[in-house]
Amino acid sequence: MRFAALGCVHGNYLALEAVLADIKTQGITEIVNLGDMVSGPLDANRTAGIMMGINATCVRGNHDRYVTDWTLDEMYPSDRLAHSQLTAAQMEWLRALPFSAIYRDEVYCVHATPDDDNTYWMEAVTPEGVVHMADIESIEAKAAGIAESLILCAHTHIARSVRLRDGRMIVNPGSVGGPGYRDVAPYPHTLEVGTPNACYAIIEKREGRWDVTFRQVPYDHEAMAALARKNESLAWASALATGWIR
Ligand SMILES: [Fe+2]
Repeated sequence: MRFAALGCVHGNYLALEAVLADIKTQGITEIVNLGDMVSGPLDANRTAGIMMGINATCVRGNHDRYVTDWTLDEMYPSDRLAHSQLTAAQMEWLRALPFSAIYRDEVYCVHATPDDDNTYWMEAVTPEGVVHMADIESIEAKAAGIAESLILCAHTHIARSVRLRDGRMIVNPGSVGGPGYRDVAPYPHTLEVGTPNACYAIIEKREGRWDVTFRQVPYDHEAMAALARKNESLAWASALATGWIR
């Protein structure tokens, strides 16, 4: 079994196209998409169009849910922009995506955690706003009851894999399209990946063990930074241009 895992495209269709081209170059035909396809000051319409055209196993992200289920007043500005860009058919497709999925009977897929689509799994935030790896006890507690030996999540945009003490693996492939963001929960913090490259993972089962390769794909990130600037999101523009929010 060999497949690509990706997530958190956030309307960045150029990054998605670059990742899909890289996946094809690797000879991989199966893709798991971990959600947050839309929302972001970019192009939700083109992104959803690409995703709907490929045969990926998809789960829904918290922002996909905000865009389809929240009122315009409740939405963050990036959700509202995505909402204005999406067709009725694209909205319906996003709304119908499952919260979680089992891929090929062996891989548990979810956007954030099994209980909530807006909770960090392998990371924690201090009251001072420092993002760090969570302790193994809290990571394992969220994995209780999952029988699959490989667990995939996204949401935090940090590419990471953690091996649980019972041998199960949790993998976050990082973010295809959002190399940085600011959030307010559980405490105000800034997340910066440190590179503008598009991130995803290639996963292969070899002799009963999971082999994970994190990929970073260069693409025309300046074009996406310019689009974010045009849509008046300077934090996104900075992250897309450099991997940092300054
Ligand atoms: Fe998310």
